[in-house]
Amino acid sequence: MHCWAILLAAGKGNRCRTKDQQTAKQFLSFFSAGYPLYWHSALTFSRIPAIQGICFVFPPQENDSDESSTDYAAAIQELERVHPLRIPQRIARGGKERQDSVYSGLLALPDACTHVLVHDTARPFVSAELVTRIIDALRTGTNAVVPGVPVNDTVKQITPDGTVGQTLERSCLRAIQTPQGFSRPILEQAHAKAAADGYLGTDDASLAEHAGFTVNLVEGETANVKITTPEDLALLQPQQQYRQVSGLGYDVHRYGGTRAFVLGGVPIPTPITVDAHSDGDTLLHALIDGILGCLGLGDIGTLFPDSDARFENIPSSILLAEVLTIAEQRQLAISHVDITLVAQTPKIGPHREAIAKNVARMLHLPFDHVNVKATTEEKLGFTGEKKGIKVMALVSASLPL
Ligand code: CTP
Ligand code: MG
Repeated sequence: MHCWAILLAAGKGNRCRTKDQQTAKQFLSFFSAGYPLYWHSALTFSRIPAIQGICFVFPPQENDSDESSTDYAAAIQELERVHPLRIPQRIARGGKERQDSVYSGLLALPDACTHVLVHDTARPFVSAELVTRIIDALRTGTNAVVPGVPVNDTVKQITPDGTVGQTLERSCLRAIQTPQGFSRPILEQAHAKAAADGYLGTDDASLAEHAGFTVNLVEGETANVKITTPEDLALLQPQQQYRQVSGLGYDVHRYGGTRAFVLGGVPIPTPITVDAHSDGDTLLHALIDGILGCLGLGDIGTLFPDSDARFENIPSSILLAEVLTIAEQRQLAISHVDITLVAQTPKIGPHREAIAKNVARMLHLPFDHVNVKATTEEKLGFTGEKKGIKVMALVSASLPL
C-alpha cells in the first residue's frame, strides 16, 4: 500500500466571507496556531506513518483574487521551515468545482501511489485516529470508505413548493465527512465516469456510488466539523474557560482631618474634610478592595500598608491603576460594579452620575456597567451622627479557570 493524501484548498470559501473579510477561509491564519487553516490537517496527516505524501490543491490561477500574487510553493516552503511536515509534497491547481480540484490532485500523484485519501482542509480538527481508521479499512481490501456520524436532527425532504414531502428515517441517516479513502484506480474510474456523464457530486463517495462501486462506512467524529460560516471560525480560537467571581469592598472614613472630600475621583463641593492617611477617597478604597476580593489578594492594606511612607497622601487613582495592572496580568475581566454610598451629609445625589461616569472611565467600562447609589442611615449610627462616611462596592468579574 502506497497512500497519498489530497488536501483540498482550492475553494472560494464564499459562505465564510464577510464584507470585511474577503480571504478564502483555508488561507486565514489564526493567532493561536500561527499557520493557515489548510496547514492544520496537513500536520495531522504528516504524523501518520502510512501517509507517503501530501498533494495540496490550491486555487486555479484565474480563480485567484486576494491570493493572486501568492506563490504557493514559497508559502509552503516557509511553513515547512517553521512548522514542518517532513513528508513529500506536491502542488496541484484546482478547478471550478470541488470535483475538478480532486481530479487535478489525482493527476499530480506519483505513479507508485496505490491509495488516496481525499480531505477538505476546511476540516481542521480531523484526528490521526480517524485518518488511521480509514487507512485500516483500505488495508482490509475495501475500495471506498467514508466516515459517517449519526444525524441528531430529524431530516425531511422538502417539495419545490416549500412544504414537507417526507420525513426520512433518522436511524438510517449518516452525515458524511472527509477524509474519504479509495484505492486509486477506483477513484480514477469514478471521476472518469462522472466526467463522461456530466455527473456532479459534493463528495468523492457519491462519484464512486454513481459509478456503481460499494462504499463502506467507518465511524466519523463529531468534532470533525467543516468550517463553513464566519461563526465557525470561533472554533479555531483557543477555548479559554472562565469562572465568575465577585468581590465586596467596604471602607469607612472619619470626618475632620485635612483631606478634601473626594468620591470616585470626583471632588465634592463641601466644607467637610476627611481624616485619612492617603487622599481619603472612600469610594475608590472600597472599589480597590472589591477588585482585590475578585483576585483573592487580601485587601488594600496588604498591598499598600499605612506604615509605608511611599503611600502617604498618594492619590487613590494611582492605587487603583496599580491594582488594575495586577488585575490585567491575571486576566480579570470586570463586568459590573455596584456601589452604595452611606452618608448623612453631604448630599451625594447630585454627584451620583458624575461619580459613576468617572469610575466607569477609570475601569474602562461602559457607563451602564457602573451603578452608584447613595443612602442615609436615618440619622442612626456614626453616619447618622455625621461623623463619617461608609462605602460598599460589589465588583463582578470573570477569571480564567
Ligand atoms: N474545494 C476545492 N475546490 C473547489 C471547491 C471546493 O478544493 N472548486 C475545497 C474547499 O477548499 C474545501 C472543500 O473543498 O476545503 C469543501 O468545500 P466547501 O466547504 O464548500 O468550501 P468552499 O467551496 O471553499 O466554500 P463555499 O462553498 O462557501 O464557497
Ligand atoms: Mg463549496
